[in-house]
Parts: sequence; C-alpha cells; structure tokens
Amino acid sequence: MPLARRLLLGAMETAGVDPDISFDLCVALSEACANAVEHGGGGDCSEAYRVTAYLDGEKCRIEVADAGTGFPAGTRRAQARAAHADAEHGRGLCLIRELADHVHFANKPGRGGAVVSFDKILKWREGAPLMAV
Ligand SMILES: Nc1ncnc2c1ncn2[C@@H]1O[C@H](COP(=O)(O)OP(=O)(O)O)[C@@H](O)[C@H]1O
Ligand SMILES: [Mg+2]
Repeated sequence: MPLARRLLLGAMETAGVDPDISFDLCVALSEACANAVEHGGGGDCSEAYRVTAYLDGEKCRIEVADAGTGFPAGTRRAQARAAHADAEHGRGLCLIRELADHVHFANKPGRGGAVVSFDKILKWREGAPLMAV
C-alpha cells in the first residue's frame, strides 16, 4: 500500500497535479487499500489486491480490486445512509465518497472480489507540464 501511494504521488507530482488533489486521492486510495486488506483478504492470500490508476489528462481514475468475498449484500444500501460521524466502522467508504468526484462499488462476477473505483477531476499547479496539452 505505501508503494501504491508513493507511485501515485510521484506520478501526479511529475504530471504537475495540484497537491491538494493528489493528497485527497492518496487518502482515498489508502482507505480503499485498507479495505482490500481488511475485508478482501480472502483465505489463502494467493492473490492480494490490484491497484490501477489512469491519469488521462483531465481526471484521474483509480481502481482497487481484491480477491475476497466482495461486498456483503446491503453494504451499498447501508452506505447510502450517512454514517454517524463517531461510528467506528463505515467511515472509509464515506471518506472515499467525500474525496472523489465519482465512486463506484461493485463485486466482480464469477470468482468474486470487490472492486472500488473512484475518479477526480484534476487541477494543475502553476506551470504544470500537462497544462497546455
Ligand atoms: N474490499 C471489500 N471487500 C468486502 N467488503 C468490503 C470491502 N470494503 C468495504 N467492505 C464492506 O464495507 C464496510 C464499510 O467499509 P468502511 O467504510 O471502510 O468501514 P470499515 O472498514 O471501518 O468497516 C465494511 O465493514 C465491509 O463490510
Ligand atoms: Mg475501512
């Protein structure tokens, strides 16, 4: 997880993304990875989880897929209700929702596993290399 975060930060730094945006995406990524480890561990750890980041110029989309049991039925409905601010659980998904522009939770058909993807419109630092593209 630290590696994924560092790679993401590095890529966005190189691309000249506004640090506030990079930070939000990193926090969201950390929560998604924490969930993949905590809830998506699966039994035998034969496959951990996969992080994919798409930097497509105007927005960044990040996908975290694990090989666990997937979201339990009702999670998404539960997430539709706002979690209590002091609740011990259920903050991760809310945080991702707050920090990203769009969030999508799904279970992989077939072998199972959860897929969380989220995206955010990027802003650029002054003089960023990709700004003019
Ligand atoms: N990768 C995942 N695989 C299966 N279930 C998940 C996954 N991520 C989240 N969940 C479910 O969604 C719930 C809410 O997640 P979250 O908001 O991060 O709270 P917490 O991790 O504190 O339980 C979890 O308790 C779990 O039931
Ligand atoms: Mg969590």
